[in-house]
Amino acid sequence: MNQLSENPIGIFDSGLGGISVVRAIMNLLPDERLIYFGDTARVPYGAKSNETVRRFAQQITNFLLEHQVKMVVVACNTASAVALDDLRARWNLPILGVIEPGSQAGAANSPNERIGVIGTTSTIHSGAYERSLKSINPNFNVISKECPLLVPMVEEGWPEDEVLFGVLSRYLGIFNQTKIDSLILGCTHYPYLRKAIQTVVGSGVTLIDSGEETAKAVVKILRDKNFLHRHSPEDGERRHHFYVSDFPQRFQETAARFLGRPLENLFRVELEVLESYNVE
Ligand code: DGL
Repeated sequence: MNQLSENPIGIFDSGLGGISVVRAIMNLLPDERLIYFGDTARVPYGAKSNETVRRFAQQITNFLLEHQVKMVVVACNTASAVALDDLRARWNLPILGVIEPGSQAGAANSPNERIGVIGTTSTIHSGAYERSLKSINPNFNVISKECPLLVPMVEEGWPEDEVLFGVLSRYLGIFNQTKIDSLILGCTHYPYLRKAIQTVVGSGVTLIDSGEETAKAVVKILRDKNFLHRHSPEDGERRHHFYVSDFPQRFQETAARFLGRPLENLFRVELEVLESYNVE
């Protein structure tokens, strides 16, 4: 067994949305210990400059490394889109974003080479999904649409509301004319709207959850590197740790809704402390 296999997996997001990726990883790898960082003080990343998001991502990765993680999962689409290359150039451990796994699944489910992508303004403007898809097949026709109102609507808890359907029809109307095979849900929050999105785009479009695909990629990386945690009876219950940079209003409610139960072992990291993890 590799020495590192006992170490936790580090996962981070701009806030609580990345809990959708935590859930997917917990489902596939129930024996692994997870350390999650949600940057709840500085969310949203989706409308910030690339430079700022890169700096935040460096600080959090550095923080996770101090906690001896064996790999880092960038659960945030925005951070994956603009900061992943920088993180990989700085640190020499497996660092996985959500864009590549989401693109691979989109590619595999698009026989007519027509793929839709939805995400935050930064993710869509970065062109990261488009580049990733075209590196798989240059013939892909990628139709992208930023949907900035969806994150606050998920946080507000409106997965089936008629206002939501109005907003979705407006954002996703473009896909009715373009006849896509699959639609990549390129934001941590969108899996929570899966049912409503499917209703609006129709059952002929395959929805791709980048977070779920990332969880599958985590299994593959850990297996290939022989980093998978081997469960032994002495382990008892695996403990996960959750760190956040703030406890905003209605934090408990939102966190429990996203995880499906209250967050255990929850700690706050003051912003000044987080900023001390800055790298040059
Ligand atoms: N986590 C972000 C993403 O997946 C959505 C929320 C934000 O804008 O920070 O792009």
